[in-house]
Formats: sequence, structure tokens, C-alpha cells
Amino acid sequence: MNNSLQGRRALVTGSLQGIGHAVALALAQEGCQIVLHGLGPQALQDSARQAVLAAGAPSALVYTHDVSDPGEIAKLMAEVLADGPLDILVNNAGIQHVAPLAEMPDAMWDKIIAVDLSSSFHTMKAAMPAMAARGYGRVVNISSAHGLVASVNKAPYVAAKFGLIGLSKVAALEYAAVGNRELGGVTVNCICPGLTETSILTAQIKARADASYGGDLDAGALDFLKEKQPSLRISKPAEIGQMVAWLCHPIAHNITGTAIPIDGGWTSQ
Ligand SMILES: NC(=O)c1ccc[n+]([C@@H]2O[C@H](COP(=O)([O-])OP(=O)(O)OC[C@H]3O[C@@H](n4cnc5c(N)ncnc54)[C@H](O)[C@@H]3O)[C@@H](O)[C@H]2O)c1
Repeated sequence: MNNSLQGRRALVTGSLQGIGHAVALALAQEGCQIVLHGLGPQALQDSARQAVLAAGAPSALVYTHDVSDPGEIAKLMAEVLADGPLDILVNNAGIQHVAPLAEMPDAMWDKIIAVDLSSSFHTMKAAMPAMAARGYGRVVNISSAHGLVASVNKAPYVAAKFGLIGLSKVAALEYAAVGNRELGGVTVNCICPGLTETSILTAQIKARADASYGGDLDAGALDFLKEKQPSLRISKPAEIGQMVAWLCHPIAHNITGTAIPIDGGWTSQ
């Protein structure tokens, strides 16, 4: 069985920073060509590109399409697929807004559903038929512990992350019989991170620290961990990256339709 990712080409949405960037680095270390994507200034685009090349990617491009807009996603996918076959699709771009249901702005509901759920439908629809034709493909969708259990004040985020797991299971079933053990088949899985050290979390820790601990960020983080994550350890983005890379190997051909928590026991409670 060929277990190398050398020669594979991967698109990771939202990969200029945070978890997505760590996923891109992990795939680059395994020899994948990397298509980076995300919103951010030119300097961030350049440094993200240099980092994946330094990690071992034979090539790296950057796209900046806004995935809240289906028209922009269509352009993104047309450009990416025109450049060459896409073997690996990691839907990672995501946003969060914390507010009680009654105060959640309607526009925020629409935007979070668009970015955190609908964008994955559009990218998968565009990418998966060609994966099936080649007998190998990997879709890894970054859901959340909030795709498995709820918390207050996160209605659109939790709805989107639960929905992403459902979408992934349907696609997993539709493509389950494609390919064979040698080719690797086409699989679709979700990863469900718990508290992970990125800017999306830092903002929430800061809000908690300011509200209850006089701005002490360590105290805010520990409070968050005690409430949610029994290991009391925040995950590093690289730990999520390594799991994605492993799922992309042919040996994972029979792992499909799963939602894998990396959450220190959060969703076992
Ligand atoms: N950090 C955590 O604790 C945690 C936990 C569970 C799940 N997640 C999920 O992991 C994923 C990555 O989050 P992160 O923590 O690295 O956050 P992050 O804010 O550091 O990264 C999010 C990325 O998404 C991109 N993005 C956002 N909106 C976009 C849009 N409209 N168009 C194009 N790109 C857009 C951003 O440019 C950025 O690159 C998200 O889906 C998030 O929900 C994070």
C-alpha cells in the first residue's frame, strides 16, 4: 500500500492562520502541493506561503475569495480545479459570534451559516466528482465540539457545526463505494476540536478574563477549561493538523462519516 501523500494536492480553506495553517503545514510536511486560502493582508499571505514551502510543499498558491458568497466560492473552485486535480479538501474557514439567541443579529446568523456550513456544501459539490473519478479523495471538515454538544449564546455556530457533521455523513455515504483499498477511496470526515489555541478562542478568553478576572488571561483560560475541557489542556493547532494528515493516507480508506473529537474529554461528559 502506498502511504505517501507525495504528489497530492490539497486546498485548505482559512489556512493563513490558526488551525487551517497548521493543517496546511502538516500536509506540506508530507509532500503535498498546498493551496492556501483565507482573508488577510498581503504580508500574512506571503508569510503563510513561505511557511508551507519551508515545511516541504513542492508548490503553494494563495487565494483570498470570500467564502460567505457562493459566487466567490464558484470562482475559487473553478480557478483551483483549472490549475490541476484536487485530492484533498479541508473545509476549515469559520467564524463565531457570541450572543443570546434573542439578541443574535439576523445578519450574523446568515453569515455564520454561510461560512461555517454552506461553504463546505459548495466546495464539496465542486471537488468531489473528480475525486471519485480518480478513486482517491479526502474531505476533512473542521466542525467543533459544538457540532456534538451545545453551549449557550452560540446558536448559529452550534447549528452550523451540527449541520456540517450531517452534511459530511451524507457525502460519506454517497462516495463510500468509490475506488478501492489500493487507491485509497473517497472519504469524508469531520474533526471536532475542543478549546484550541487560536485567535477565535483568544477573543473569548479575553472577554471572560475581563468580565471576571480583572483581565488575567491565564485565569480566564483556566476558567474556560474547567467548564468545558476535562484534560485542562488547550490543544495546539498542530495536533489537529497531524490528525488531518493521517486521515489523508490510504490506510484510512475505511474511516468515513466520522466526527472525531479532539477535545480533552469535553464531549464525553
Ligand atoms: N480555536 C478553537 O478553539 C476551535 C474549536 C473548535 C472548532 N474550531 C474551528 O476551527 C476552524 C478554524 O478556526 P481557528 O480557531 O483557526 O480561527 P481563526 O480565526 O484563526 O481562522 C479562521 C480562518 O477562516 C478564514 N475566514 C473566516 N471567514 C472567512 C470568509 N468569509 N472567507 C474566507 N475566509 C474566511 C479566516 O481568514 C481565517 O484564516 C473554524 O471552523 C472554527 O470554527 C476552532
